[in-house]
Amino acid sequence: MSVRHFLSLADWSSAELEQLVARAIELKAMRQRGEQYAPLKNKVLGMVFEKSSTRTRVSFESAMVQMGGGAIFLSSRDTQLGRGEPVEDTARVLSRMVDVIMVRTFAHEKIERFAASSSVPVINALTDLSHPCQLLADIQTYVEHRGSIAGRTVAWIGDGNNMCHSYMEAALRFGFKLRIACPEGFDPDSQLLSKTAAVAEIVRDPLLAAEQADLVVTDVWASMGQEEEQVARERAFDAYQVSDEVMAHAKSDALFMHCLPAHRGEEVSAAVIDGPQSVVWDEAENRLHAQKALLEKLVVC
Ligand code: CP
Ligand code: NVA
Repeated sequence: MSVRHFLSLADWSSAELEQLVARAIELKAMRQRGEQYAPLKNKVLGMVFEKSSTRTRVSFESAMVQMGGGAIFLSSRDTQLGRGEPVEDTARVLSRMVDVIMVRTFAHEKIERFAASSSVPVINALTDLSHPCQLLADIQTYVEHRGSIAGRTVAWIGDGNNMCHSYMEAALRFGFKLRIACPEGFDPDSQLLSKTAAVAEIVRDPLLAAEQADLVVTDVWASMGQEEEQVARERAFDAYQVSDEVMAHAKSDALFMHCLPAHRGEEVSAAVIDGPQSVVWDEAENRLHAQKALLEKLVVC
C-alpha cells in the first residue's frame, strides 16, 4: 500500500526531518502563547502498546486531544493481539476505523508487517531496533538550546540499543558525528554500523568518546524485554556511567540527554542528570511537540 509511514528516520529525507523539527518548535510556541490549533478534528489515533510507556502514551494522547482529535489506548493485554490475532488482521481492521496508528512492540519486523497491511500511516513508537520519535524530540531540544546540530559531535555512552541505532540514523540525516562508547558484546547492529560508517564510530572508552563532545547521551543498560539480564548488564556496564568526570571531558557548554526512564547511580549519576547541563525535562516535553508535527504531517498534509 502506498501510505507514508514513520518506521525509521532512514525512510525520511534530511529536509523532511528538518521541517518536522522546525514545525515542532513552532507548535510549541503556539501552545505557549495559548493558541488553539485543531487540525485533527474528528481524527483518531490508535495506540498499540506491547510494552510499557509513560512519555510516549501521554505525549501522543495529549497531542491528539490538543489538536482536536482523540486517541484510543490498545494494550496487547486487553486486545485480541495478545491472544494471537495476526498483526496483519489487526492492522487491516484498525486502519478501517482510525486515521493513524502508533505501535510500540518488540521485534521490528512486526511493525513492518503491521504497516504493510495498514491503509493508514503507522508510527514506530519504539521497537527493539529503533525509537525514531525520541530522536525528533532530542534534535528539537538540541536546536532550541544550541542551534543546528549539523557538524557537532555527539557521544553515545552505554548500550548499542534501539536509541543508539536511532542516533546513528539521525547522525546521517542531521549531519553530526557520533562516537559510541559501549562495552564489547553490546555493539549496535553491524549492518547499521556499515551504513553509517561515515558519521558513526565505536570508541570503547567513555572518556575518549566524550572528549570535546557537544552532546552526551545515554540510556538504560537493560531495555524493556531484557529485565532478566539486569544484573549481568550492571557488571558489563560498570565503567560506562555518565558521571561528572565524563562530562568534564566534553565541551564546557555540552548538553546531557537521556530519553528516560533513568536509573540514577547506574547509567548516569544523580549529579549529571539533575545538574545544569542536563536538558532531560525539555527533551521529555518535546515529545509532545515533535509528535504533533509528525501527526500533522502524516494526517493533514
Ligand atoms: N522515552 C520514552 O519513550 O519513554 P516511555 O517509555 O515512558 O514512553
Ligand atoms: N532502550 C529503552 C528505551 C526506553 C524509552 C528501552 O527500549 O527500554
